[in-house]
Amino acid sequence: MADFDLVVIGAGPGGYVAAIRAAQLGQKVAIVEKESQLGGTCLRVGCIPSKALLEASHYYEQAGTEFQTMGINVSKVQLNLPAMMQHKSKVVTTLAGGIDGLMKKNKVERFLGHARFVGNGKIAVAGAKGPQEIGYQQALIATGSVPATLPGLELDGVNVGSSTEALSYDDVPKNLVVIGAGYIGLEMGTVWRRLGAQVTVLEYLDRILPGMDSEIAGEALRIFNKQGLEFRLGTKVIGTKVNRKTIDVQIEGADPVRCDKVLVAVGRKPNTQNLGLEQIGVETDKRGFIAVNEHYETRCKGVFAIGDVIGGAMLAHKAEEEGIACVEQLYTGYGHVNYNAIPGVVYTEPEIGTVGKSEDQLKEAGIPYKKGLFPFAANGRARAGGHTDGKVKILAHAETDRVLGVHIIGAHAGDLIAEAVAAIEFGASSEDIARCCHAHPTLAETVKEAALAVDGRAIHM
Ligand code: NAI
Repeated sequence: MADFDLVVIGAGPGGYVAAIRAAQLGQKVAIVEKESQLGGTCLRVGCIPSKALLEASHYYEQAGTEFQTMGINVSKVQLNLPAMMQHKSKVVTTLAGGIDGLMKKNKVERFLGHARFVGNGKIAVAGAKGPQEIGYQQALIATGSVPATLPGLELDGVNVGSSTEALSYDDVPKNLVVIGAGYIGLEMGTVWRRLGAQVTVLEYLDRILPGMDSEIAGEALRIFNKQGLEFRLGTKVIGTKVNRKTIDVQIEGADPVRCDKVLVAVGRKPNTQNLGLEQIGVETDKRGFIAVNEHYETRCKGVFAIGDVIGGAMLAHKAEEEGIACVEQLYTGYGHVNYNAIPGVVYTEPEIGTVGKSEDQLKEAGIPYKKGLFPFAANGRARAGGHTDGKVKILAHAETDRVLGVHIIGAHAGDLIAEAVAAIEFGASSEDIARCCHAHPTLAETVKEAALAVDGRAIHM
């Protein structure tokens, strides 16, 4: 008999959530994680620490600027970077401890070390306690992803680094070059700009946030420019030259850009290194992703994979949904992920929240649609809080009125998008949203007004 019904490899949001759900369903579960802190990239060096710095740097910037316009005079706003970093670390440590508690509560046995398949039904764990071998009935690979880099560009972790380093700089760089205007580049670029760095974002494409609705991305570019982020679009980085105190970022067909720190944010790649996949006949594609069927099962029977390691949107909540669906399918016979209802959020100020189809996708697919727009500037609560940048855009089918996509740039867009996710999940029409009573005065009224605008009857416009 195997030691465990299910062994989960990787304790990120995909893995640990799947472990808990499997335990809830009565399975004997183990989780193997090589880091001493549970929570994966998201909790240790991703979503959570970046949000701690985004929140703190936002207050710092507001104290020095917006407070005065609201009649609050603050003298001598000063940055205490070590204390800000301590706040970040405390948030991470507390939450990681919380996951430890959840594992205990759900009787998920924890193994600390690097897991490797050594044969069908067997995983070897190399950890501080020495090698261990555990037997499984089923295994779930949830090993996530690692930062990608560019040819000719080596991440040295000091001068040229990934988001991991950018979450822990000892000092505020004078000139920070960010390569890539995606999620990480914009969030971490915003943090360091607020804390005093001159930030230049170099982006290969002629737009920012590829894949996102282009009208919303265009609005974001305008706002971030106004805030002081400098963008150079259509710029191909071909290498870096590290000097004694500076770094030259080399660009195709133009002079290099000199700076004192480089953040490489050009995407992430699946983490399948040294997992022993060849031992169980699991192959990766040429980009390193593990192929799975609709039940998240790999080519090896009984071995499943979810999250960043199988491709698609590299988002914590997408991995969670897949983890839950995978174990529910396994142990209850049903489970499902609606990939059209997975939101994406960029936690800049204003935030960007998006779900469903973009206008570009609808045009490309030739789907007839109606569009409702509503600006934050026309919302009372947004005015009261000084959050007048941004808008809500709702795209609904021209004939059925079914909501196809919602794209929000504006204060708290990351929370506002939840209503749109529910609407898409339940197959709502824009009229359904418009007929729901939204409390006044709230930012959520912008969503109702945009839904009314789909039918040309917004009240406050
Ligand atoms: P990304 O895929 O979002 O953006 C990478 C950017 O780099 C793209 O705009 C791309 O065009 C650009 N690029 C590629 N090669 C380049 C070159 N040679 N020169 C200049 N620019 C180049 O990747 P990012 O920002 O690194 O994030 C990685 C993953 O982490 C993403 O999948 C993202 O979804 C996820 N993430 C999600 C967050 C959230 O949900 N708020 C926050 C941070 C990361």
